[in-house]
Amino acid sequence: MRLDKFISNNSKYSRSEVKKFIKKGILINGKLIKDAKYDVNLDNDMVIFEGIEFKHIENIYIMLNKPQGYVSATRDARDKTVLDLLSDEDKIKNIFPVGRLDKDTEGLIFLTNDGHLSHKLISPQKNIFKKYYVEVDGELNEEEVKLFESGVIIDKDYMCKPAILEIIEAKKMKSSAYIQISEGKFHQIKKMMKVAGMNVIYLKRLSIGKLKLDDNLKLGEYRYLNDEEVKELI
Ligand code: URA
Repeated sequence: MRLDKFISNNSKYSRSEVKKFIKKGILINGKLIKDAKYDVNLDNDMVIFEGIEFKHIENIYIMLNKPQGYVSATRDARDKTVLDLLSDEDKIKNIFPVGRLDKDTEGLIFLTNDGHLSHKLISPQKNIFKKYYVEVDGELNEEEVKLFESGVIIDKDYMCKPAILEIIEAKKMKSSAYIQISEGKFHQIKKMMKVAGMNVIYLKRLSIGKLKLDDNLKLGEYRYLNDEEVKELI
């Protein structure tokens, strides 16, 4: 397997980040290798990266139904993280959550140890839509559909990429909708709704690209992706 792919697959770094590390040299069997195309022998080569021996770990792909109260990080000084919901055996595989959901957001979290795929899924250039179910404390209407479609401005001067809003029910004090965005700016949907003069009162992620949250997973439960789901993502 190519050296850049080998390191990216087994770490949190994207292929282009890994290439920068390789330019400085990676110790393989005691020799400094600077060629990203170096063919790693998975059985025999001893690759040292960031000061430790780098072992080939099978890629794993997990979907988890995140409950509120957990942060999407691998560790946190204050809060429980989504990794706390995994078994000890699954926790040790260099796994990390792809993208983030707020502490009070529920729903689909994708976890993997495949840095390459992770980068692809969160890169705004790849235009991968994430779909959410949202409830707000105001009346959504066509105005918001058009506003979000044309690119709403958040954080003073950031123009969001076009988002798709499908209203399910709209009442004066409470509305529900599906919203699809292709970026993952901090508190993005909450900020977009704020621009429309509303507060998010409930948010749940339903899908990331073609990967849909399994309805059978209760809050806090997870499962490995099946081969078909993995193929669709890769
Ligand atoms: N947008 C938000 O505001 N919060 C999330 O958790 C995800 C998207």
